[in-house]
Amino acid sequence: MSVTIGTIGTLLSDFLSKKAYTQIVILVDQNTKKHCLPKVDLIMPAPKVIEIKAGEKHKNIETCQKIWQAMTNLNLDRHALMINLGGGVIGDMGGFCAATYKRGIDFIQIPTTLLSQVDASVGGKLGIDFNGLKNHIGVFTLPNAVLVDSQFLQTLPSLELRSGFAEIVKHCLIKDQAKWKTIKILDLEEQNLPDLIAHSIEIKKAIVAEDFTEQGPRKTLNFGHTMGHAVETFFLENKSKKLLHGEAVAAGMIMESYIGYKKGMFAEESLNEIEEFIFAVYGRIKIDKADFNAIIALSLHDKKNKGKVVRASILDKIGSCQYDIPISKVEMKKALEYYVGG
Ligand SMILES: NC(=O)c1ccc[n+]([C@@H]2O[C@H](COP(=O)([O-])OP(=O)(O)OC[C@H]3O[C@@H](n4cnc5c(N)ncnc54)[C@H](O)[C@@H]3O)[C@@H](O)[C@H]2O)c1
Ligand SMILES: [Zn+2]
Repeated sequence: MSVTIGTIGTLLSDFLSKKAYTQIVILVDQNTKKHCLPKVDLIMPAPKVIEIKAGEKHKNIETCQKIWQAMTNLNLDRHALMINLGGGVIGDMGGFCAATYKRGIDFIQIPTTLLSQVDASVGGKLGIDFNGLKNHIGVFTLPNAVLVDSQFLQTLPSLELRSGFAEIVKHCLIKDQAKWKTIKILDLEEQNLPDLIAHSIEIKKAIVAEDFTEQGPRKTLNFGHTMGHAVETFFLENKSKKLLHGEAVAAGMIMESYIGYKKGMFAEESLNEIEEFIFAVYGRIKIDKADFNAIIALSLHDKKNKGKVVRASILDKIGSCQYDIPISKVEMKKALEYYVGG
């Protein structure tokens, strides 16, 4: 699998020139149909399109059934290609549908959000949410290509851009102290995104290449995600306020840095640096004390756990992360209290 960065027209024509497919279908949601499909239409006039409703709440088995049905109605055979044009929801779910349709057909990812460009499109994780549990059902299957063009981001809502930026911050914190020093002094608007996208993809690719099935170092990519996922899931199930993935992960990075600090693994000044930057970019999510136990209970479903022990990836210094660190309910509660300012 290759991840290539450039102009979508050139990237897609190059890919399509290499292999003849019996049919090509493009999966979009209503937003990427409007904003992104026209950029791809130029290379592939009148493509076959499957459209689904946008949003995480549609990343489920019911939508998969609609996609598989549409693929069946189009008579796609095993030599067809599926192009997933959209954010992480389209990529994860479209990839999952392609990887399972007739035991798997070729598919490529064209990520159109910052989050999907720097994270979701690299590493072969595909899947859907199930009964409120994030990415509970899924497979590891690599796409045939990932084509990244930062031009798509021009139409992305600013909150979505900020959400994706959290994964860039994460990549710097776990692997590249020098890059962290360059981003932490800038506002989001001042960041050099094309450069950071390439940087993040390189970091994630290198980590995934070392450990595809996540037995070891790949777990460091989950920094901020143990508590972040729990908070995200809690809001998805219980709150009318929408919480974006990256916003939850940004909060999770503060909480897990605090846990590292309390364990004596991580310096207080580094915790302060991270906290200052994340609060400046993301603000503080309002979490009620009464909801702490429910959030902690959700962390038990985390796929990184072994048995009933919650394991997290914890920084030992900026640019370096350890994994499989057991964390207790008490530590999680203290981290939530610290985050909300209690
Ligand atoms: N597979 C992985 O390794 C991995 C890693 C991280 C996250 N994820 C998953 O990714 C998902 C989140 O991804 P996301 O943040 O991209 O969400 P998303 O796919 O829901 O996209 C966010 C919103 O932006 C819209 N949009 C997309 N591209 C646009 C564009 N260019 N212009 C205007 N609007 C556009 C979408 O329609 C949607 O409303 C989650 O489900 C998460 O679990 C997967
Ligand atoms: Zn993430």
